[in-house]
Amino acid sequence: MGFGVSYVLQLMVMFSLMFVCALSQDDVVMKKLKTTISKNNLDWSDKDFCNWKGVRCSGTKRVTTIELRSSTVEGSLPQELVQLTELTYFRCSGNSLSGNFPYMPNSLQKLYIDNNKFTSMPNDFFTNMSNLIEVAIDYNPFSQWQIPFSLKNCLALQTFSAVNVSFVGVIPEFFGEETFPSLTTLKLSFNSLEGNLPNSLSGSSIQTLWVNGQKSNNKLNATLSVLQNMTSLQQIWVHGNSFTGPIPDFSNLDQLYDVSLRDNQLTGVVPSSLSSLQSLKIVNLTNNDLQGSPPKFQDSVQVDIDIDKGRHSFCTEVVGQPCSQLVNVLLSVVEPFGYPLKIAQSWKGNDPCHGPNWLGVVCSSSGNIIIIDFENKGFSGSISPSFASLGTVTKLRLANNNLTGTIPKELASMPVLQLLDVSNNSLYGQIPSFRAGVVVNTNGNPDIGKDKPHGSPDSSSGGEDKKKLGVGAIVGIVIGIVGLLGVGAFVFVIYGKRYNKCDNKVQTPNAIVVHPRHSGDGNAVKISVAASESVGASVAGGTGGFSLSSSVQNVEAGNMVISIRVLREVTNNFCDENILGKGGFGTVYKGELDDGTKIAVKRMQSEMVGDKGLDEFKSEIAVLTKVRHRHLVALHGYCLEDNEKLLVYEYMPQGTLSQHLFDWKDDGSKPLEWKRRLSIALDVARGVEYLHGLAHQIFIHRDLKPSNILLGDDMRAKVSDFGLVRLAPEGQASFQTRLAGTFGYLAPEYAVTGRVTTKVDIYSYGVILMEMITGRRAIENSQPEENIHLVAWFRRMLLNKDSFDKVIDPALNINEEGLKSFWTIAELASQCCAREPHHRPNMGHIVNVLAPLVEIWKPAEPDADDMYGIDFDMSLPQALSKWQNLEGISNTLDVSYSSSMVDSCENTQSSIPPRSPGFANSFTSTDAR
Ligand SMILES: *[C@@H]1O[C@H](CO)[C@@H](O)[C@H](O)[C@H]1NC(C)=O
Ligand SMILES: *[C@@H]1O[C@H](CO)[C@@H](O)[C@H](O)[C@H]1NC(C)=O
Ligand SMILES: *[C@@H]1O[C@H](CO)[C@@H](O)[C@H](O)[C@H]1NC(C)=O
Ligand SMILES: *[C@@H]1O[C@H](CO)[C@@H](O)[C@H](O)[C@H]1NC(C)=O
Ligand SMILES: *[C@@H]1O[C@H](CO)[C@@H](O)[C@H](O)[C@H]1NC(C)=O
Ligand SMILES: *[C@@H]1O[C@H](CO)[C@@H](O)[C@H](O)[C@H]1NC(C)=O
Repeated sequence: MGFGVSYVLQLMVMFSLMFVCALSQDDVVMKKLKTTISKNNLDWSDKDFCNWKGVRCSGTKRVTTIELRSSTVEGSLPQELVQLTELTYFRCSGNSLSGNFPYMPNSLQKLYIDNNKFTSMPNDFFTNMSNLIEVAIDYNPFSQWQIPFSLKNCLALQTFSAVNVSFVGVIPEFFGEETFPSLTTLKLSFNSLEGNLPNSLSGSSIQTLWVNGQKSNNKLNATLSVLQNMTSLQQIWVHGNSFTGPIPDFSNLDQLYDVSLRDNQLTGVVPSSLSSLQSLKIVNLTNNDLQGSPPKFQDSVQVDIDIDKGRHSFCTEVVGQPCSQLVNVLLSVVEPFGYPLKIAQSWKGNDPCHGPNWLGVVCSSSGNIIIIDFENKGFSGSISPSFASLGTVTKLRLANNNLTGTIPKELASMPVLQLLDVSNNSLYGQIPSFRAGVVVNTNGNPDIGKDKPHGSPDSSSGGEDKKKLGVGAIVGIVIGIVGLLGVGAFVFVIYGKRYNKCDNKVQTPNAIVVHPRHSGDGNAVKISVAASESVGASVAGGTGGFSLSSSVQNVEAGNMVISIRVLREVTNNFCDENILGKGGFGTVYKGELDDGTKIAVKRMQSEMVGDKGLDEFKSEIAVLTKVRHRHLVALHGYCLEDNEKLLVYEYMPQGTLSQHLFDWKDDGSKPLEWKRRLSIALDVARGVEYLHGLAHQIFIHRDLKPSNILLGDDMRAKVSDFGLVRLAPEGQASFQTRLAGTFGYLAPEYAVTGRVTTKVDIYSYGVILMEMITGRRAIENSQPEENIHLVAWFRRMLLNKDSFDKVIDPALNINEEGLKSFWTIAELASQCCAREPHHRPNMGHIVNVLAPLVEIWKPAEPDADDMYGIDFDMSLPQALSKWQNLEGISNTLDVSYSSSMVDSCENTQSSIPPRSPGFANSFTSTDAR
């Protein structure tokens, strides 16, 4: 007894100590912070740091916000800040803080340290900062560094601002849609960057791009061509660099209003896609080598070309005055060469034959061009047919360049041509038949006379060379890795041998799984989780590895990145028996952690990842990191390694609504009762209502259907599959997009015009309501022609009161009270599917109609949604743990996707093909724009 009591007491003391420790953790850090910064106008005297000016805490006294903007603070920041593991906002802009900027907790979402005196930041600072949304580090006297590679892990990044921070080197290829699907602002002005704007920017959603004023010798010196594919751009500041080549085609940049191209070496004719751009407000072109006629902009545009004072190569100084015919021909001749800079700098004025010499142009005394000499100029590109318009040319010398393509047949019609020298280029194709007497030199063009150039895709020898090289490289890599790991006490399991039962489709360079052996740890598989973990890194994990359950805690603690190796382990190496369902772009696997908790892992099909699948993947991460709601399925993490793209969700044990509505007989289960259906309808409505506006921004799901509605053990519903979700551009209620969705659920105006509004989701929702009422699918091919389309049939049946009995799902047993709600829902469904979008209600209205009906059925159950359905400011992991606490669920991962699939792995019924009715008729059509 005595022992028992003292033991209990001991435990109590221990627990209370732990409690105090947890509470005082931030206290210690904040006191440390107070000592390391000298404060002038800060009121930080209160005993409770939560009352300090600029500090905000959560209910549990953890620091969430530190705001020290322009507070004339000096000193440095302590290392201990990383322990403020609930900090989401840190701003110390406009102070005199110095020293090294320390690591920060990965809960952080917004970080502003601009305009201080920090001298460095760790290169791996961003490695674990997967929750960062906005980062501003501008104007700090950092010592030289490169744009840190670790930034790649900040997938949710929307703003990255690093003006005058001593960056050197090149802009890495990871800036763009693939790594940063949400990035809208990229500011890298006044650094010492060089090289080009990376190709990865093509297709990105960046709206504000500043790279002006690089201080390196070469500055940014390539072409601006990638800008033409950055169609979200609104502001482009590239001035004060050495960009060269022509101004790209801006015709798809319909939101562009501010373009600063001044002080570069841009050449060529200013395209009308810029001068006639409707959205344009400000443009500065001064000090370039632009050619052709000085462009005329609309009167509303503030233009600066400075033709009098600035450097330029326009043919005239009168805006809008056309160039001479001859100059226009010469410009079109050099256009395919990308308007070379040395040409632009030499060709001044409007007359090539009078005044200063034009490079490569030789005139007769009578003022006719008789020779074009572009020999050995380093030109690449094709030979323009416009050469043929130079009717007085006798000699056309194009030898010793890098010209590609064919010799245009037009050249054969040049009346006085005597010599065409195209020797030592890379031309192919037939030589046109020139007049007798014309000397044509095509020596040194290996493919001349052939139909295709060497190394083109169909050229057999070239292709095979490439393949051989690929295999050699892979063998080399594998040997290299094996060699690397051959040292030390690790056991190598060749992945193919161990798992060949299950997965023989996977052939990535990751094919070697290293299992660090631990003695005395029982059977637990040791796994480490680290951002962008490689085989090499896993060796390091061998000494301090996590168990699988701690890997999940790691996820909950904010690290959204999960290594491919963990996911292989938990899905039994993507074993077929673990498949829960298959979609257009990937397969969903059940995963089981060693403590028995379950997860759902969506693995993008590698062949699809190339285009649409990748878009959906990015979209899904972008959406799921921005929105969280009790009735939207939660994302636990993701994996982007090698070619693998995986998403990890909570597991929903009762499968899809589709199974419960349409397949219950086959599954041997009972049909859903009417009150269950109503409650599911309300859950879905609340989830979608949140998407449509409560989440700060307007998200449109675009693919609502019963197979995308998942059910938990309590039969509460969550909306899933955010691959097609689109964010409505700010201030725009309607926008055009690639048509995507599922037949039967597509709103008519969307199918016809591709224009998307939230009313597209309302229509799909109406179809789902009809399916719940009738137990019939949106498209029922077994029905007679006129009844195939559920919406048409349903609305017809509704017109005739006598026939409405036939509409109700025969599996439903409806009493008096249910009948009343049935009519209400039938009316609502019909409104939702109204032909005119503006006749459809919004989700708020639908929730208001449904909520009282559901309450009739469950008067005793208070609706908890108001308490914790919506989280505006929490990070995903925080929201996750909060829900877990509130719902009293110790492990949220205990859920699964499809009830019929749950058993199949244990029962080895793997031969049953996974059923996913909704996916079968999913489609994505080509771009409607
Ligand atoms: C990132 O997290 C891992 C695992 O928690 C840790 O080992 C590593 O030191 C962290 N790296 C940085 C730069 O914070
Ligand atoms: C960049 O920062 C340095 C100090 O680090 C300062 O001297 C310089 O004026 C700044 N440049 C610009 C363009 O603001
Ligand atoms: C651009 O700069 C790089 C160094 O960053 C240099 O190697 C290259 O030759 C330059 N290219 C041009 C066209 O000047
Ligand atoms: C622009 O996008 C198209 C289509 O995706 C691609 O073929 C082209 O190479 C891109 N151009 C640039 C300059 O990135
Ligand atoms: C355009 O650029 C020139 C040269 O850099 C500069 O002097 C001028 O102020 C700029 N004009 C505008 C409107 O910004
Ligand atoms: C042609 O291009 C190659 C690389 O593309 C380059 O190495 C070579 O110098 C170029 N030749 C000429 C004559 O410009």
